[in-house]
Amino acid sequence: MIRRATNLDVEKIIALGEKYNSNFKSLFNIPAILDNKDYKIYVAVYNCEIVGFLIILNTFETSNVILVYVDETYRQQHIGSNLLDFYITELSLDIEKIILEVNVTNKNAINFYQKFGFDKIYTRKNYYSDNNDAYIMERKIKDE
Ligand SMILES: CC(C)(COP(=O)(O)OP(=O)(O)OC[C@H]1O[C@@H](n2cnc3c(N)ncnc32)[C@H](O)[C@@H]1OP(=O)(O)O)[C@@H](O)C(=O)NCCC(=O)NCCS
Repeated sequence: MIRRATNLDVEKIIALGEKYNSNFKSLFNIPAILDNKDYKIYVAVYNCEIVGFLIILNTFETSNVILVYVDETYRQQHIGSNLLDFYITELSLDIEKIILEVNVTNKNAINFYQKFGFDKIYTRKNYYSDNNDAYIMERKIKDE
């Protein structure tokens, strides 16, 4: 089941996020994000556990995918897809495009986003702390 996150989910989101990045708590202030109306967090719940989440920031006509993460045990079972599908159906009418950044070495995520109709629009050099480049990927909403 996919649903919007609530304040009751904070600890579980952080616990999962720390599997993604041990600095997750300092990189993402989840309680503040939940309180900010420009952000949205969606969670995937399986057997009463949060097994994935999606963080979104909406700025004017652009919706930004900040992070999508699925617990390793649950990958390739369409949980990431379900999170994106749910979010896209909830997009407000003024959103014209979705933008995201992805590490050029993250082939799984690049495949995942391409499957969802995202195209690479340009490369941002030395974007990540490991000096890797980022692909900026976009999916237009209004032309569909
Ligand atoms: C990217 C991620 C969220 C995908 O979640 P997921 O639940 O495993 O993805 P899905 O099962 O919905 O996959 C949908 C499609 O994405 C592609 N895909 C997903 N994982 C893939 C993999 N390991 N290898 C190749 N393609 C993959 C496939 O095209 C797949 O479609 P298919 O199942 O019909 O072949 C997950 O791998 C993850 O959490 N990765 C670590 C965090 C991360 O890198 N996030 C992105 C940072 S911007």
